[in-house]
Amino acid sequence: PPTRLDGCRRPRTNGRRPGRRGTTLALYRIEGGFPLTGTIRVGTAKNAVLPILAAALLVEQGTTELEEIPNLRDVATMEAVLESLGIRIERRGTTHRLDARAIHSTEPPAELVGLMRASVLVMGPLLARMGEVRVALPGGCNIGSRPIDQHLKGFQALGAEVQLEQGIVTARASRLLGTTIYFDFPSVGATENVLMAATLAHGETVIENAAQEPEIVDLANFLNAMGARIRGAGTGTIRVEGVSRLSGTSYLPIPDRIEAGTYLVAFAFTGGEGYVEGAIAEHLVPVIAKLREMGHYLEEDEDGIRIVATRDPKPVDVKTQPYPGFPTDMQPQFLALLATVPGTSVVTETVFENRFLHAAELAKMGARIRIEGRTAVVEGTSLVGARVRATDLRAAAALVLAGLAARGTTEVLEIVHIERGYERLEEKLKGIGAKIERVEDKDLAPEPPPLFLPRFLAPGETVGRGT
Ligand code: EPZ
Repeated sequence: PPTRLDGCRRPRTNGRRPGRRGTTLALYRIEGGFPLTGTIRVGTAKNAVLPILAAALLVEQGTTELEEIPNLRDVATMEAVLESLGIRIERRGTTHRLDARAIHSTEPPAELVGLMRASVLVMGPLLARMGEVRVALPGGCNIGSRPIDQHLKGFQALGAEVQLEQGIVTARASRLLGTTIYFDFPSVGATENVLMAATLAHGETVIENAAQEPEIVDLANFLNAMGARIRGAGTGTIRVEGVSRLSGTSYLPIPDRIEAGTYLVAFAFTGGEGYVEGAIAEHLVPVIAKLREMGHYLEEDEDGIRIVATRDPKPVDVKTQPYPGFPTDMQPQFLALLATVPGTSVVTETVFENRFLHAAELAKMGARIRIEGRTAVVEGTSLVGARVRATDLRAAAALVLAGLAARGTTEVLEIVHIERGYERLEEKLKGIGAKIERVEDKDLAPEPPPLFLPRFLAPGETVGRGT
């Protein structure tokens, strides 16, 4: 199946053959082997901003002002989805003001949903506010089949009529009625979607086996700031007392714990030492614990986390779990790190069924990883630079980290994946001593770029008053 921006499905191209000259493709060229040192700052969390942007659809009165919004492809895609539904967005630097008083559509364009599966997060708000929503099923991904059955189970429990035909999901409800919903899996997206729908339902909704990620808590805090009545976010049981309407507010979402974890691994990987400014240690307990088990020194204060890498790291075993377990979004970065730790480490991925594609790319750099189903057995060795290809956002991050530690030159292709979730990555890494360049190489375009890319600011480009 064709590949999309987020490694899922490629939007319809204009028929050009892959690799045709004249198209450009951005890549990173990295000289490895230099210890990283210094301070690096994390941005606002992509996976908190995306559901919070979708939740702005719930506001009939007033506008929503979101601060320090990161300049990421996924944010641009979500905002394009919202504008296609009728939301007006005014951008002043990193402050985005959203006006959702005039919603004129309940069907986001399929090509946008195809660009980013998180677009399905508009379903809950549209169902609650407008009484209906039609969305093209986002389909599978490089990292797994990514169904949305739990989302739909939640909507049906709230009284919606849900139909699926020719890959289009339609959900309708004249009025959502509070109920008790049990999730078969603590899905982050399903919890967010149902939480947003339940804020305007009639009566109380109880979500059992809810996801507990910090991004869920942040979404609940945002919804409560708009007048919702949510208790228990961050635990497995969330209670929502429906209200008749929500009103605008201003809000600053939490820092990005996965970006922070990625930078901690960068310092550990290269034998450096540094400070990750803005990181919240309590959001990273398993990651900090595993780095300490390896022998790295970490200490936290109210503004961030400091790390001093050990020169004699020990192998560790890692098993990803829903929060508060070890985050699946840090698994690729840790697999790369453990590929250079003498001894044997075992990495088990329990959240997604196919999230080891980066192992094959790391093998091009000399990594010795044996995949057995959901388990990767890693024999530590030294890595040598190579040309590797990113397959999804976190795999791309893992390959950049491997390039920073490998001997020689590494080229990471298809860094469009990186730009989905890491703002100005090469600039931030250069700030702590990385030898990394972003290169547009027209001869290296194995895939014609997608026809449609939402408005995305080039690094350093600023915006005045938006529309
Ligand atoms: C969110 O995806 C994140 N994305 C992912 O981050 C993250 O990896 C994931 O949560 C797990 O933490 C955003 O927040 C935008 P899930 P989501 O629903 O909501 C299965 C990144 O790199 N499942 O918790 O899609 C599903 O197939 C991205 O930033 C069902 O079976 O994750 C998967 O195996 C990658 N049925 C598992 O649950 C459903 O209805 C976890 O999915 C829903 C999910």
